[in-house]
Amino acid sequence: MVAVKVGAAVIGDDFFNREAEQRRLWQHFETDHVLLLAPRRVGKTSLMLKLSDDAADKGFLAAYVTVESATDEMGFVMKLLDGARSLDKSKSWLKSLANLASGAQKAVRNAVRKGGPVEFRDPTAEPWGTLGQKVATELHKLAAKNNKRLLLLVDEVPVFVLQLLKLDPSGDRARTFLHWFRELRQTPEFIGTVRWLVTGSIGLDNIARRMGLTRTINDFYMFNDLGAFTEEHARTFLGVLSESVNLPMDEPTMKRFLERVGWLIPFHLQVLFSALLDERGQGKAMAPELVDVVYKRLVDRGHYFDHWVERQREELQAPDDQHAIHLLTAAARPPEGALHSTLEVVLGHQIADVDARDQKLRYLLDVLQSDGYLVTAEGRYRFRSPMLRDFWLHRSGSANPSGSNGAERAKR
Ligand SMILES: Nc1ncnc2c1ncn2[C@@H]1O[C@H](COP(=O)(O)OP(=O)(O)O)[C@@H](O)[C@H]1O
Ligand SMILES: [Mg+2]
Repeated sequence: MVAVKVGAAVIGDDFFNREAEQRRLWQHFETDHVLLLAPRRVGKTSLMLKLSDDAADKGFLAAYVTVESATDEMGFVMKLLDGARSLDKSKSWLKSLANLASGAQKAVRNAVRKGGPVEFRDPTAEPWGTLGQKVATELHKLAAKNNKRLLLLVDEVPVFVLQLLKLDPSGDRARTFLHWFRELRQTPEFIGTVRWLVTGSIGLDNIARRMGLTRTINDFYMFNDLGAFTEEHARTFLGVLSESVNLPMDEPTMKRFLERVGWLIPFHLQVLFSALLDERGQGKAMAPELVDVVYKRLVDRGHYFDHWVERQREELQAPDDQHAIHLLTAAARPPEGALHSTLEVVLGHQIADVDARDQKLRYLLDVLQSDGYLVTAEGRYRFRSPMLRDFWLHRSGSANPSGSNGAERAKR
């Protein structure tokens, strides 16, 4: 029975559908490594955990790791090591390395707490590249011993590449890493027996293109269409959720619900449903009007959407984060979205030089589209999610033209 879950990746019975995506991905793993880029909160991690769960039946030994918090190349390798450790705790060198690595993490934490230097020797005498290769080889051997192929699922890789760009704005470290990573995937004895699924919500393809490094990721099959549920799937999903908590939804309520969410990603369905569930606790009947009330409260509070803003700040940094905020506010105001020429003017207030402005606008629009904020159609850029748009309008203090709550807000 599916439970209402908001926030952390869903596993087991709580994972709903994505059947077509799973089928396609398993097919690709027969021949390809896959780079899956999709906006945040679309359900990447949940899908990866599902693939990992089913891997044995498909003849794969799978290890899932997320490299979001890896602070440097050795950190990335240590994450792979964690993955290896989760599959085989018996190897003593893996164990001692993992202990060393957690010792290093502790040293970093202590240094941060006390504001002093990190007092810890490099966790291994070996360079990160050699060590990473060794860990992958060990995993490969382990899979072979079990007569399986190896599936390595690595989450949030673009965040890690951005981290390297922060450490070294010249791009040398990111370049070296991406070349190393490609070579690792091409290791001769891995051909045909090791598959990588690399995911993230930032356009790694855009980053690589900007850095002239598309060659380092051209061995991946690009899987770009993990997105919203179809209306049919969203309806079934809501049906299952309502059944699980005994909260029946009649057709008009369901219709209003789907209209409000608009961009039917499972996270937004879960968020609004869970808010409705809280409200129902106060004895109200399910009705379209209740959906409106709960919706308004949700976007006004903003709680669930704040992480979009935080993540954007971290990823873009000043002054690009401010530029992005101006662009988003301009795109949010008209329901049909903003014209490219309007966005040029908006950014022109911040960047006087026309060439520099145009270059920055191209970059930011790329980022905002791959992050799932904006879509473009008929020469306009508009919010992909009406829910996120209403949140943005509220946050930026603009009126809310699409909500039924404009009058109420005006009273405050
Ligand atoms: N297949 C699914 N079934 C049910 N809920 C899902 C599913 N995929 C995602 N979700 C919802 O979306 C939220 C975010 O999912 P997650 O996998 O963490 O997304 P991402 O990794 O893309 O940011 C989960 O907490 C859950 O509410
Ligand atoms: Mg995730």
